[in-house]
Amino acid sequence: MTETSSNGTVAYDVVDRIAWVRFNRPDKRNCMSPTLNRDMLEVLGLLEFRDDVGVLVLSGEGTAWSAGMDLKEYFRETEAKGLGATRDAQREAYTWWRRLRWYQKPTIAMVNGWCFGGGYGPLFACDLAFAADEAQFGLSEINWGILPGGGATKVATELMPMRKAMYHAMMGENLDGKMAAEWGLVNESVPLDALKDRVTAVAAVLLKKNPVALKATKDAVRRVGVLSYDDAEDYLIRAQEAANSYDNHGRKEGIKQFIDDKTFKPGLGAYDTSKQRG
Ligand code: ACO
Repeated sequence: MTETSSNGTVAYDVVDRIAWVRFNRPDKRNCMSPTLNRDMLEVLGLLEFRDDVGVLVLSGEGTAWSAGMDLKEYFRETEAKGLGATRDAQREAYTWWRRLRWYQKPTIAMVNGWCFGGGYGPLFACDLAFAADEAQFGLSEINWGILPGGGATKVATELMPMRKAMYHAMMGENLDGKMAAEWGLVNESVPLDALKDRVTAVAAVLLKKNPVALKATKDAVRRVGVLSYDDAEDYLIRAQEAANSYDNHGRKEGIKQFIDDKTFKPGLGAYDTSKQRG
């Protein structure tokens, strides 16, 4: 059953341990207003530690994933109220993107349509991203006279080589899903009518993995990028030991099923987590 956030700007369903969360302002191409940003934080909070949620997918109602920040409500109307209101609005947006970046559960952006500017914040926040071939990605900021702020420039340089990031930011041209995959903005692009099935299949694989190991892994991938090799080595030792304090049995069960029981091969898939104690 579809549920909605307090102000209706976010819709979600939980089906077979996948939380399908959707930007829900299709008539405004799902652009992010302060209200939507508050609603999204509410929904992420409601879902994060639910036992019946193993993966979160973020997509959009209608023809858009998200047309970026709401130029009227987020920029013009907020700026008219002064610097304090502007900073509050920024904080609300950045807070839910940050929460999504470090979310407890694996997250997948399912980019069904338009994805512009500020939309790159939640796009990057999701661990994996799959797009429709028909989707359009753009740093359109330059087209209306600002730089790609709100982290968008950072996202472009994190995900793309410098020349491509520079071209993307300066030219204001869009990439379709296939180009977005080639340039590194998303993992893969498939035809729109195959997108949900592909994302469901990816989520099904993630749902079979040890959830403590998944959280440790996704955090590690984000953290080590800015660390020296030595610091990364040390961080990864500590991160695994911290993960062991939540789940010290899973990896032993994994070794047992491979070495003793011979019921699976780690090189070919995940161990049976249902046999795990605790
Ligand atoms: N901010 C505010 N309103 C928006 C936004 C936005 N980012 N995007 C769409 N809308 C509104 C339109 O004003 C329109 O409202 P109305 O029905 O009250 O007139 C409604 O959504 C539908 O938009 P259309 O432009 O009619 O939809 P269409 O499908 O023809 O075009 C497109 C879609 C290409 C996404 C177009 O709406 C657009 O260019 N939007 C702006 C994209 C953008 O540059 N976003 C900002 C990025 S920069 C940043 O986020 C910091």
